Amino acid sequence: MKIVVCNTYDELSQYIADRVASLVNEKPECILGLATGSTPVGAYEKLGEMCKAGKVDFSKVRSFNLDEYLGLTPDNDQSYRYFMNKNLFEKINIDINNTRVPSGISEDPDKMCKEYDEAIDAAGGIDLQLLGIGENGHIAFNEPASQLYSGTHVTDLTESTIKANSRFFEKIEDVPTQAVTMGIGSIMKAKSIIIAANGANKKAAVDVLRSGMIDTNCPASVLNAHRDVTLVVCGC
Ligand code: GLP
Repeated sequence: MKIVVCNTYDELSQYIADRVASLVNEKPECILGLATGSTPVGAYEKLGEMCKAGKVDFSKVRSFNLDEYLGLTPDNDQSYRYFMNKNLFEKINIDINNTRVPSGISEDPDKMCKEYDEAIDAAGGIDLQLLGIGENGHIAFNEPASQLYSGTHVTDLTESTIKANSRFFEKIEDVPTQAVTMGIGSIMKAKSIIIAANGANKKAAVDVLRSGMIDTNCPASVLNAHRDVTLVVCGC
């Protein structure tokens, strides 16, 4: 695993934005795997600026997001679809029809999950997957457990994730208790992965990842079995 240590959040954001932009410039029809959370917001901001300055063109790019809260409609301002539209898609020249976020309101979530993985495969697979990391070591919403799912699936959120994510909601009771998430296998199929961690609250999880071990109680550590992972850290 390649490790990039940044001194500031701005540096971390610039690193991610540059990696995305150079892939898009090299392969205009690339498939991006995108993440939510506060960590990638700075990189998305920079990609918006780069796109505006004509330094990168997203018109042929397609994207797949990692996850979505179960029960939230796309227009709910806490949904990940809403987050992506606001923080990235409205700032770049991507065709919104080429962006996919798992549905949180599907009548048949299992079928939707299967079709989501099939759509990624049919698109040729994800070229570059961006990931954040939960305080408990989760990636997307793959929570610590003795067994991890391979494909996209519906999952219960742990107390710790509900608590951590409650900062975005008015009150903790508003945080959905379930989500749809790409599985570990769906993520590991990506050709290249960047996992970013910003802040001391991520240190424990990052330490497991850095140890080189694979521990399902820190789902991010499965990335140690991937050929092309860059861990970008700041303050942890
Ligand atoms: C959520 C998302 C994850 C993300 C994590 C960390 O739980 N499902 O994909 O990595 O939050 O978020 P943050 O970057 O805000 O710390």
